[in-house]
Amino acid sequence: MPSLEFLRRKPVNVIAVTGGKGGVGKSVLTLNLAAACAALGRETMVLDGDLGLANLDVMLGVMPRHTLADVVGGELALSDILIDVRPKLRIVPGASGIVSMAALGGAEHLGLVRAFGDVTAQCEVMFVDTAAGIAPGTLQLIQAAQHVIVVVCDEPASVTDAYASIKALRKEFDIRHFKIVTNMTRRPDAGDRLFSTLNRVASRFLDVILEHAVDVREDELLRRAIRRQRLVVEDYPHASSSTALRALAARCLDWPLPNGPRGNIEFFVERALKRAPAQLQVVR
Ligand SMILES: Nc1ncnc2c1ncn2[C@@H]1O[C@H](COP(=O)(O)OP(=O)(O)OP(=O)(O)O)[C@@H](O)[C@H]1O
Ligand SMILES: [Mg+2]
Repeated sequence: MPSLEFLRRKPVNVIAVTGGKGGVGKSVLTLNLAAACAALGRETMVLDGDLGLANLDVMLGVMPRHTLADVVGGELALSDILIDVRPKLRIVPGASGIVSMAALGGAEHLGLVRAFGDVTAQCEVMFVDTAAGIAPGTLQLIQAAQHVIVVVCDEPASVTDAYASIKALRKEFDIRHFKIVTNMTRRPDAGDRLFSTLNRVASRFLDVILEHAVDVREDELLRRAIRRQRLVVEDYPHASSSTALRALAARCLDWPLPNGPRGNIEFFVERALKRAPAQLQVVR
């Protein structure tokens, strides 16, 4: 008889960070946002949903020895692969394995769901960094989250790709609310204009509601922090990007939590796995 203890746990706010296009700042914003939440005293996790390229671990100069694929394969427990990067901040490396559900049996499925429940008992907010593009596995992971942040830059390809992501999530999973982060803007009014451009077409053609969550200006100090494998919110707390990201972190913590026991992290994992198209495979 499975334990129903998890039904009594507190809900976790799961926030996916996407953007469609590569290189728009998804990973660096995710990490700094998560670090800012941890600094505000919240137990925070980051699920690294982009196994393909050197990613969160490289940004922090840590080297994961294992990924979620090892948990899916049953070789390791989730607690074995977590990386403690800061007080109250942990990374789950390589979530691509999570989309392998179609290849798993029922017991493994349940095992993975429980594995998350066990290690995330203390977790209050989890950010999910995702790969560029709208591959089925990526959309699957995003739609399981409670809130979706779309990062967009002031260039046509980024706007087109952000629109394509929103469209896919709206059409395939009926997601209607999106928080937009304008990033790397070069003028004080560029963020507002960029948001208006995206909002005009998306609200007209897709029947979605976009909210301009924050504008992050292009910031040399953020780049300098990346080069040193550091976090801008820690090393340059007065940088413009740090101020913006701290404000967004504080706001994220006020975003509504999922209702009732279905807000537990187990249900995020369930949703991430449930509707996975059959062709998805474990990515190692
Ligand atoms: N606000 C900013 N100011 C200056 N540079 C930035 C800013 N945001 C991002 N960058 C630059 O963009 C680069 C790419 O960022 P990041 O790796 O987070 O993008 P990504 O969207 O995760 O890319 P991928 O799709 O490849 O995973 C960073 O290394 C940094 O140089
Ligand atoms: Mg990335």
